[in-house]
Amino acid sequence: MSEKFYLTTPIYYVNARPHIGHTYTTIVADAIARRKRALGIDTWFLTGTDEHGQKIERSAEQANCTPQEFADRVSAQFRGLWDRMGLTYDDFIRTTEPRHKQAVQKLFALLMEKGYIYKGSYTGQYCVFDELYVDAAPGAPCPDCGRPTETVSEENYFFKLSAFERRLLEYYDEHPEFIRPETRRNEVIAFVKSGLRDLSVSRTSVNWGIPVPGDEKHVIYVWLDALSNYITALGWGSPDAARYEKFWPADLHLVGKEIIRFHCVYWPAFLMAAGLPLPKTVQAHGWLLFEESKMSKSRGNIVRAETIIDTFGAMKPELAKAEQDLFGADVLRYFLLREIVFGQDGSFSFDALVQRYNSDLANGYGNLVSRTLSMIGRYFDGMVPLPATGGGAVPRAANLRNEIPGSIAAFAASFDAYDFSRALETAWALVADVDGFLTATAPWKKDDNITEEQQQAYRSTILYIAAEAIRIITALVYPVIPYSAAKVWAQLGLGDIRKADLKNLKFGGLKPNTKLGELTPLFPRADKETITHMSELEQKNAPAQAPAAESPAPAAEAAAPSTSKLRSAIDGLAVAMAESTNETAAVAAFESAIAETVRESMGSRKEKPAEPAQTGGHASEDAAKLPGGPVLPPAPATGTIAAPAPAPAATAAGDKISIDDFSKIELRVGQVKVAERVPKADKLLRLEVDLGTETRQILAGIAEAYTPESLIGRKVVIVANLAPRKLRGLESNGMIVAASVEGGRPVLAGFLEDVPVGARLK
Ligand code: MSP
Repeated sequence: MSEKFYLTTPIYYVNARPHIGHTYTTIVADAIARRKRALGIDTWFLTGTDEHGQKIERSAEQANCTPQEFADRVSAQFRGLWDRMGLTYDDFIRTTEPRHKQAVQKLFALLMEKGYIYKGSYTGQYCVFDELYVDAAPGAPCPDCGRPTETVSEENYFFKLSAFERRLLEYYDEHPEFIRPETRRNEVIAFVKSGLRDLSVSRTSVNWGIPVPGDEKHVIYVWLDALSNYITALGWGSPDAARYEKFWPADLHLVGKEIIRFHCVYWPAFLMAAGLPLPKTVQAHGWLLFEESKMSKSRGNIVRAETIIDTFGAMKPELAKAEQDLFGADVLRYFLLREIVFGQDGSFSFDALVQRYNSDLANGYGNLVSRTLSMIGRYFDGMVPLPATGGGAVPRAANLRNEIPGSIAAFAASFDAYDFSRALETAWALVADVDGFLTATAPWKKDDNITEEQQQAYRSTILYIAAEAIRIITALVYPVIPYSAAKVWAQLGLGDIRKADLKNLKFGGLKPNTKLGELTPLFPRADKETITHMSELEQKNAPAQAPAAESPAPAAEAAAPSTSKLRSAIDGLAVAMAESTNETAAVAAFESAIAETVRESMGSRKEKPAEPAQTGGHASEDAAKLPGGPVLPPAPATGTIAAPAPAPAATAAGDKISIDDFSKIELRVGQVKVAERVPKADKLLRLEVDLGTETRQILAGIAEAYTPESLIGRKVVIVANLAPRKLRGLESNGMIVAASVEGGRPVLAGFLEDVPVGARLK
């Protein structure tokens, strides 16, 4: 039996049309699927849409149509975009399809039969945005996302999640590859260790969902419904389960980091309860940020893939529209896989996109292909030359040839470990080396000291090696830029790249005398106007993005809070959320109201800030509660330490401290090893800082001033002996020192000369 590989993306909510965040995950999955297929692995790639639940029900109401009509429309937008981009999913599941609904009901019945689902009653706070019951007091915002919660009192069915605590922990322990990367694994383990409570898996106040079999006034909880797609799409629970038998368990669930808990706690527990095998790996990736925060409809900072596809597609007017789309998709694919370090958050910008395109695709790979193949055209009549034996006379030829097997292996190792940027770096290092080889050997130069025959022999060796290296590079990068790689493959005279065999890729595969195909330009250079054009397109589209599914824009003021008081801002936000309208304005008002409230309350307190709640609150609150989180409000600009937020002039005039007092503060040099955003907390970064003797986790309210990437490797000053605090369930062990500029952003303390990690500041 041949090796198999089953991979999935999350199924996307249909409350809003796709943006490049969704596109990112789907592109990654497509690139992996293409590589697996090229390696001869029997691959199944599943994507789809998640169409039930309160969020969709409300979006449909807002758009004045039925939930089904609404879901049909948005689901088609997702699928249409994937098709325009040529994504090679094998199946697209919709949770409103009968094949899914009946199998979910079967799973629910099976879990009941096995005694893992029971009926009980529950009153709690429900977060509609996260589709989750949360630990919050009535009236309090969601501890995860800060949005308002609703008090829901219902008779529910419960899943005995608590029964799986030990089994899950054992499973994580025995299968370290189950959750990747390591930081996420640690997070999940900590979550499970903190105790699991039974999970409500039905709702009676929601209509838009799959009815509980035998008790139809209940609908099945959206996450139980959604997660099941990974098996229902394979035919589990249907008369034809052959595909399930062949492909389950999944080899890879690709997910954004914010839904790791659902995939690594609830999903394996459901499967364990049903007696089904567990997926092999859940791989979380970071967020694509735009203007420094996670793209989201509510923030209004969305970039759509169409903007990029249309703009770059138009640079190739000679192509038919469908091919222009595929070309544009390649540009986006290359950028996302090359620029974003997979697993970490990464910023998207049009400038960076154009810069990468020009340097790597137009001037790099594209230029190399065109100069090599046109010389073969000129000197060898368009036939791949037979290299002169040995090629000893050609400087660097042997080196370059010897480098290639290592490049193939390094590319494979990185790509198969999902380190796409490193893999592409390896491929482009080879592009640069071949380019350098051509420049150094200058096959176009006439040498009067040798015969024409000798000159041709010299050229044949150079151009064969260059063309062969191009063939190898092209085969490697095919999963990333399939359209362009296929073009180059055809220009090399090799026919259909989909038949290329990556398993046996080695130097020498290009047959001399192969007739080159037609040579056409590959990557025209992009100019500055391309950037302007994309920004304008995005702005033009912006108003249409806010309401889901292009429903008419609601009156902008409808949900805007009229006062700065927190209560009314929360009410405003609640209305905006409920109506799915104008969330951006309401969120902004909510944030500033919180900031104001926090500032007010701090101004009136002289003592240290109260301990933060275990679960944390809104991002701004978190920042203010950080051990010295230098964000809100700006402390008086007296010292270099952004003092604990209230800092009402801790050193009031005349109030001097002794040297002994100062020596109580242990300041040390640390180096940032890991930096990432904290989900749903705009201002917070989670850092792992090396102090020489240990690595500390520190939460710092500096996300508005520093991107995570910019901090990696940076030396910072840490207050090392602060008592630990918990924020958003994460422990912060120390404080990072920053200047707090009135009205401005925090500025990290640093050194002009190099200092060893761990050194003490005295
Ligand atoms: N419907 C659930 C998933 C159910 S899976 C059984 C859901 N849907 S979603 O529409 O919100 O999509 C979330 C996923 O989209 C993320 O996990 C990630 O894969 C992708 N992304 C959405 N926005 C993103 C960014 N800004 N950056 C990177 N990926 C993003 O959650």
